[in-house]
Amino acid sequence: MYSRIAGTGHYVPERILTNAELEKIVDTTDEWIRSRSGIEQRHIAADDQTTASLAIEAAKRAIEAAGITPGDIDFLVVGTTTPDLVFPNVGTIVQEALGIHGCAAFSVEAACSGFIYALSIADKFVTSGESKNALVIGAETLSRITDWTDRSTCVLFGDGAGAVVLQPSTEQGIISTHLHADGQYKDLLYAPAGVSKRPQGDLNKEFAIHMQGNEVFKLAVKTLGAVVKETLEANSLDHEALDWLVPHQANKRIIEATAKRLGMPMEKVILTVAKYGNTSAASVPMALDVAVRDGRIKRGDLLLAEAFGGGFTWGSALIRF
Ligand code: COA
Repeated sequence: MYSRIAGTGHYVPERILTNAELEKIVDTTDEWIRSRSGIEQRHIAADDQTTASLAIEAAKRAIEAAGITPGDIDFLVVGTTTPDLVFPNVGTIVQEALGIHGCAAFSVEAACSGFIYALSIADKFVTSGESKNALVIGAETLSRITDWTDRSTCVLFGDGAGAVVLQPSTEQGIISTHLHADGQYKDLLYAPAGVSKRPQGDLNKEFAIHMQGNEVFKLAVKTLGAVVKETLEANSLDHEALDWLVPHQANKRIIEATAKRLGMPMEKVILTVAKYGNTSAASVPMALDVAVRDGRIKRGDLLLAEAFGGGFTWGSALIRF
């Protein structure tokens, strides 16, 4: 028994923030942002939008694409680092908005790897027979934890959501998932304000993402290279068997480095970072849905999805679409 992706969806808020606009906010240039990260613009949630509102729209699209109704969903998990509230969790807010009652609904906090973690968990519930229609979402409003005076981070992040519906199948679907974490790197990428631990001083500033970009970059390239190798080896596959790489969209240069290690040409890599920036846990399901809807990813294609983020956490999924 496998779990198979029956439908995908994504949603981004209407407001687009361009590099030209950022030039007016911080000391940066469009040229610097494009050449260092590949990002041209990002979408920013409206004041009345939250992570759950973006997740709900992505979920509706994935449910429609799967040809089911919200009432069929029997398991709901959201990967997010920017939950609406401490509790109730984002999963239950999405669940209620979709008119679903009673099934398990929760969120997973694993930074940019949140969707891969959530997918791996949902896969276990579907393949064990406990769930027939699992809704797996990655959703973020990173703009709410961005220090808009810090040019080294504010140019990188954006808001959005992506979702998939998993169903049981005798045909291949999620073939394997590989999850990892190593807390020793916590100081390289973190948002210091929490619930039981609160920073002193300027809360708006302290609440925001802190990152040693350079160090994160080097470790991301190394770690993602290792996890894609691990995934191929675990399945006795050569990289040539892969049809698509669906990477976490943090930085075009990190993605290029991973593709190079895999020996994959960039034509086989789904890239959305230029338009959406880094949307953390939302980026993999967003990229997946973009490529499914524009016809690049087709039924039967073999995909390798990967992500890396704060913690550090990282992971991958080998998927027969
Ligand atoms: N505009 C202009 N200059 C900027 C800038 C900006 N927005 N942000 C930083 N700089 C400057 C720095 O101050 C530094 O100046 P200095 O040499 O005078 O000190 C210079 O640009 C180079 O900075 P550096 O951090 O070494 O650049 P980089 O090539 O490593 O690129 C990142 C910076 C952030 C784009 C890159 O490190 C990165 O993408 N890291 C990983 C981020 C990531 O993936 N995070 C999430 C993981 S999921």
